[in-house]
Amino acid sequence: MTMARIAIVGVGAIGGVLAGLLETAARHDLTLCTRRPLPVLQVDTPEGQVHVRATNLLTPERATSVDWVLVATKTYDAAGARLWLKHLCGPTTRIAVIQNGVEHREHFAPEFDVLPVIIDVPCERRPDGSILQRSSALLRVESSAEGAAFARLFANTLANVDITTDFVSAAWHKLCINAAGVVSALTLKPAGVLADPALGQLAVDLIAECVAVARAEGATLPDDTGARILANYRAGSPDSINSLLADRIAGRPIEIDARNGVIVQRGERHGIPTPLNRMAVALMKGMA
Ligand SMILES: NC(=O)c1ccc[n+]([C@@H]2O[C@H](COP(=O)([O-])OP(=O)(O)OC[C@H]3O[C@@H](n4cnc5c(N)ncnc54)[C@H](OP(=O)(O)O)[C@@H]3O)[C@@H](O)[C@H]2O)c1
Repeated sequence: MTMARIAIVGVGAIGGVLAGLLETAARHDLTLCTRRPLPVLQVDTPEGQVHVRATNLLTPERATSVDWVLVATKTYDAAGARLWLKHLCGPTTRIAVIQNGVEHREHFAPEFDVLPVIIDVPCERRPDGSILQRSSALLRVESSAEGAAFARLFANTLANVDITTDFVSAAWHKLCINAAGVVSALTLKPAGVLADPALGQLAVDLIAECVAVARAEGATLPDDTGARILANYRAGSPDSINSLLADRIAGRPIEIDARNGVIVQRGERHGIPTPLNRMAVALMKGMA
């Protein structure tokens, strides 16, 4: 497998995990594009500690074209990421956007054609800048030439890359999980809060709205999606803190538009009412 020149734009929790994985492939030329200096990057993975060796760039103007750009900013930072893309992209550069939500392409079109990527990996950036990856990473991409090329970047790493012929359903299923996460963010309590019967039912009802909109968008999701997701939340760690809650606690901007907000917006497009998600968005924005 030949070496690729890869730039990661946004090296927080997810960008850090991706850098750690690509470092273990030991054949890529990595550039980390950040807003603040990142002299060292240490990723603590379930398999041990990884020290990433990479060039660190702080200003887009200093960037030159690469083979791949992996964008791992929050969804609301797409404008800043686009500035990097202008300098990192040449005629053959491929771009992957690794974010939650279902608007990967919309956030970068028409200027840039991007490969949407969904990632499942619980991780966080510690105050000292190191990254804690709590379990193995699963990346999902669509079945296409770009999807296959993206998967090859991670060959011989511990990442699982799932190439799916139904990416739409995969992305909306992840959004269903995220839709329920707003209950934690609203109550300021970790995932264990969903053990409460009334809040558990609220999660299922939020997901039911998401499933209805997802189906109108072309996704195939079973009727028991909400019940299954709630069961998974209840079987998981009660102390788990989702990123919406973490951002609210830290006083950072929140990704509510890309999570519950897009359910409301797409619901309007299809004439599907989404009153619970609408209320969640209004409350989260009102408290921000
Ligand atoms: N964390 C998780 O467990 C998880 C799991 C699955 C999916 N996701 C999704 O993955 C995406 C990334 O989340 P995250 O948790 O990794 O967020 P994060 O920890 O906040 O990292 C985002 C990074 O982007 C950087 N950034 C923003 N604008 C930039 C710019 N113009 N130039 C360079 N860097 C810039 C931020 O820089 P600063 O450090 O300067 O703020 C930050 O380091 C989100 O869509 C999230 O929902 C997260």
